[in-house]
Amino acid sequence: MSTPSLTAVVMAAGKSTRMKSRLPKPLHPLCGKPLLSYLLDACQSAGVSRTIVVVGHEAERVQQAFHGQCEFALQEEQLGTGHAVMSARELLEDYDGDLLVLPGDTPLIDGDTLRHLVEHHRASGAVATVLSAVLPHDAGMYGRVLRDSGGKVVGIVEAKDATPEQLAVREINTSIYCFHTPALFHALQEVRPENAQGEYYLTDVIGLFTSRGEKVEAVVASDWQVTLGVNTRVELADVASRLRWRILERLMLSGVTIIDPSNTYIDADVQIGQDTTVHPNTYILGSTTIGEECEIGPMARIENSQIGNRTRVLASQVVESRLGDDVRVGPFANLRPGTVVGNGSKIGDFVEVKNAIIEENVSMAHLTYVGDAHVGANSNIGAGTITCNYDGRRKHRTVIGKGCFIGSHATLIAPVQIGDGAYVAAASPITEDVPPDSLAIARCRQVVKEGWAKRRREESSSSGG
Ligand code: UD1
Ligand code: CA
Repeated sequence: MSTPSLTAVVMAAGKSTRMKSRLPKPLHPLCGKPLLSYLLDACQSAGVSRTIVVVGHEAERVQQAFHGQCEFALQEEQLGTGHAVMSARELLEDYDGDLLVLPGDTPLIDGDTLRHLVEHHRASGAVATVLSAVLPHDAGMYGRVLRDSGGKVVGIVEAKDATPEQLAVREINTSIYCFHTPALFHALQEVRPENAQGEYYLTDVIGLFTSRGEKVEAVVASDWQVTLGVNTRVELADVASRLRWRILERLMLSGVTIIDPSNTYIDADVQIGQDTTVHPNTYILGSTTIGEECEIGPMARIENSQIGNRTRVLASQVVESRLGDDVRVGPFANLRPGTVVGNGSKIGDFVEVKNAIIEENVSMAHLTYVGDAHVGANSNIGAGTITCNYDGRRKHRTVIGKGCFIGSHATLIAPVQIGDGAYVAAASPITEDVPPDSLAIARCRQVVKEGWAKRRREESSSSGG
């Protein structure tokens, strides 16, 4: 027997007034991804085959961000959640299966909870099944699930329309439902905006069904946390801290040591290998992957980068870069986009690298800028070396061969090439290519004037100064 198909409608058209933001709520970043993407992931993991996102407020921006990941229905005017679902009606004309309806702002919801809701809905034969939750604290502005004395669901009341007794109800509406699709659209036609907010409430269909004697069920979420909604930035921070903990827990259970979870920020898609230790005040962001037995932090910020095994990154920034195995970075290094560092290389303090390939076993230990460059294996770059890549108009490349020794404070004025095995004397400004295995010295000879200082002291004391 094949599983019946499942379609989802995600309501994400609202103005998100309470966020007080120019950025539409679905696009607010949460642990490295836009808020709405968590709903799409949950739908996918619940086995949803078709997801329709209702867009309205800043529709173009939202559509652009999720292009190719779902279908869109446009809600031109935001007249309420019932009206939002109605906007997807045309797309669902020929569909008579089950419909999951979700708000766009409950990012902690997971596939298991959704699957359980759908299974219950199918097994009970209800026209509508509400996912509810019992919060351990005051239910605030959530809609309340109303039941009769026998425990049967009779309706949902919004906090703004509730009586004091209704407000005392602890079971809330998560705004996640499973419906029999034709019954839902039929009932939605009867919803009227006669309430405190003057909106077409989706919640009203529950009361409509029960008043007609149709079967409505409510499934209480086993973990209330997964149902939390984000309406304000306070709630965004609360949800983010729970999500962070979830991410850190997954990593720790897979064998990553996290010294202080409350001071470690790791995005949802980051992957870290076994026996890597993450020290405090560290940010590992975006689509970063880190290998096994690495030491990361304290005070590291790593974004969209790939790091091999046994590599150490101490108090440094690594952005859009690739580090091999046994690399040592920092303290206080800045690896900017396009940096590639080979196995066993060392990038020390106050070294900045950008758009450069550093091959294996290179040492670049202090105070260096290497940009738009290639550094061959086993080369040593002395302290204070600078690749002058910019002439005020264009960027030029510096190519340093294998096994080179670049003396301290060399200034390599690009475009320039240093051949394999060559030496550059300390403090040399290099403007011409250096052939392999040679030595380039480019600096004034030192002049020593013996006794000069002593004479000067004597002159000034005899003139009575
Ligand atoms: C809603 C529910 C409430 C529930 C809560 C759970 C209603 C009337 N209320 O309240 O019972 O406890 O969610 O989180 O359904 N939206 C549209 N178009 C609109 C209005 C809203 O697409 O015209 C979208 C919003 O972008 C949002 C979602 O629907 O993603 C819910 O809207 P919101 O205003 O956040 O509803 P709540 O007040 O949280
Ligand atoms: Ca909400």
